[in-house]
Amino acid sequence: MSVTPTSGTVPDVGHRAVSGRDAEVLLVLAGRDYSGMVIRARGVERRYGDKRVLRGVEFDLAADGFLLVTGPNGSGKTTLLRLCAGLAIPTAGELAVTLERGRIGYLAHEPLVYRELTALENLDLYGRLYRVPERRERTGMLLERFGLWDARHDRADSYSRGMMQRLALCRTLLHDPDLLVLDEPYSGLDEEGAALLDRELEERRPSCAFLVSTHDPERIDRFATSKLALA
Ligand SMILES: Nc1ncnc2c1ncn2[C@@H]1O[C@H](COP(=O)(O)OP(=O)(O)O)[C@@H](O)[C@H]1O
Ligand SMILES: [Mg+2]
Repeated sequence: MSVTPTSGTVPDVGHRAVSGRDAEVLLVLAGRDYSGMVIRARGVERRYGDKRVLRGVEFDLAADGFLLVTGPNGSGKTTLLRLCAGLAIPTAGELAVTLERGRIGYLAHEPLVYRELTALENLDLYGRLYRVPERRERTGMLLERFGLWDARHDRADSYSRGMMQRLALCRTLLHDPDLLVLDEPYSGLDEEGAALLDRELEERRPSCAFLVSTHDPERIDRFATSKLALA
């Protein structure tokens, strides 16, 4: 992924529509401050064979921005988030992410944890991988926050879907990322889990950039500084 200096300003592009047959992209609200951008997307396209999944995607995400990505199933939300997390590359256009991989926290549809390890072992492993300072304290704090402390010695494969999502969130947040890329983070969570995530987003909101996909925009609408509707 290319690293570009973040200088200059981009003109306000509120309500700018970018037409495309396969993916109609509408930037509903424009972020206000473009200095200190972490992502800049211009004409981003992604094809799989003959199929064009994304076309003409344009947005800027500031270091303190929160971009909400909405759209029906199959509209390319996961594809776009994977591109921004550096797990795939665009087939056309320009996508600049000004952060190192290690500063990004990516929550996928899959929990990306080792099922045969316990919750504690999983987080410890990721903590080592990301060289997290005060790994044990952070691990304990997150397990506590997400209501998994009592189940910390249980293997991940014994976890319910909701517990697995909570564990995946702990893994995503462990290294205190500067950019959180969250793919439908509320999916699988019960109301209590969803409230815990609300609190987490609320607290991190000022100090982190967010790229979040959802099929339930109302829940996190209040956090968004800009929106991207894929269709
Ligand atoms: N690796 C892939 N190979 C082929 N097609 C893919 C691949 N990943 C996604 N697609 C296709 O891209 C489209 C958008 O998928 P996705 O990004 O998962 O949408 P969403 O997250 O909005 O439901 C779907 O039609 C899907 O089948
Ligand atoms: Mg998806």
